[in-house]
Amino acid sequence: MEPLKLETDSLRDAAAHRHLLYGTALCTSDLTEKRRCDTILRECSIITPEYEMKWDRIGGADAPDFRASDRLVAFAVENGLAFHGHTLWWHESVPQDLGEASDARFAEAAMEHLTRVVRRYAGRVYSWDVVNEPLETDHGRRDGLRHSRFLRAFGPTYLEVAFGRAAEIDPEAVLVLNEMGLEYASPGAERKRRAMLALLERALARGAPIHCLGIQSHLDAADQPRRHPELRAFLREIDGLGLKVMITEMDVSDQNCPRDRRLRDGMVADTYRAYLELVLEESRSLGVSTWGLSDDRTWLATARKRPDGAAVRPMLLDRALRRKPAWHAVKSALLSARNPDGGVEPAFPKGKIN
Ligand code: XIL
Repeated sequence: MEPLKLETDSLRDAAAHRHLLYGTALCTSDLTEKRRCDTILRECSIITPEYEMKWDRIGGADAPDFRASDRLVAFAVENGLAFHGHTLWWHESVPQDLGEASDARFAEAAMEHLTRVVRRYAGRVYSWDVVNEPLETDHGRRDGLRHSRFLRAFGPTYLEVAFGRAAEIDPEAVLVLNEMGLEYASPGAERKRRAMLALLERALARGAPIHCLGIQSHLDAADQPRRHPELRAFLREIDGLGLKVMITEMDVSDQNCPRDRRLRDGMVADTYRAYLELVLEESRSLGVSTWGLSDDRTWLATARKRPDGAAVRPMLLDRALRRKPAWHAVKSALLSARNPDGGVEPAFPKGKIN
């Protein structure tokens, strides 16, 4: 008998072997380049709109513009990819014209937006980032909630409102609470982890349909600890609450690494590997998404410039779309995942997309 051959020459296949999804953030301009599009299709089983589904992009009630997000959802459906809807309520993507709105008007507009977007794509979206970045422990509240328009308009149970409404309209989707800065080793990150656990416990006890914690995972190769007992403990507690985990926006900044390219690539790759091995060992994960695929398409080129002016190299592929050490590191971490029963079916998770 022929020995079973593991087809793992893509991250998509490597992830599928552990019942995980692997994917990237993208925008409509990526689809206009054949090579980039082919690379996405080869490597990915899930995609996330980098910005074209955000509230300020779609716009307000009078003239919502769904052209870009329609295109991305259609691309996913046509190609059998899972789609991660990013993001419904985020303090940074509130449309400008609501800046001066009363709390009552804001609450109405926020509900309208959430309802409209979820209704439009229900059944075609695998998962929704329902609320993004609700915590800011420096804002001085005991519950760690960020002072945002959502908090002001709805009060501290606004997450329950958002998740409840999303579940009503799209009961099949995985509903994700997405957060940044849970990953680091600083005392601030530990405070955020504690606040997140307390928030989730409260919301779940009141019946909020939160299924999954999204951990953004924007890391720094010079800063991220290889061993991280606090993060391990946190993930075990998340698992104890019955929640799945998704790595939603991973990238590894090389801003503070030495200039030597091989050294830099090595540090970035090691960071991907150590971090993913840890998270995939301690959680029932649905998948891993990186915030882009290649070094020429990354928000870090502006958000985390290097002091020496060298081009940043935080992604899995280089500017010519060739695989870097980080690609191999992610592949090996995906293959090492234990992922007992938590993951998705190896093929498309919902069986809904034809
Ligand atoms: C960033 C995008 O990459 C940028 O193109 C955009 O201008 C701003 O947002 N956390 C998030 C993402 O949840 O939506 C952010 O994406 C990166 C940080």
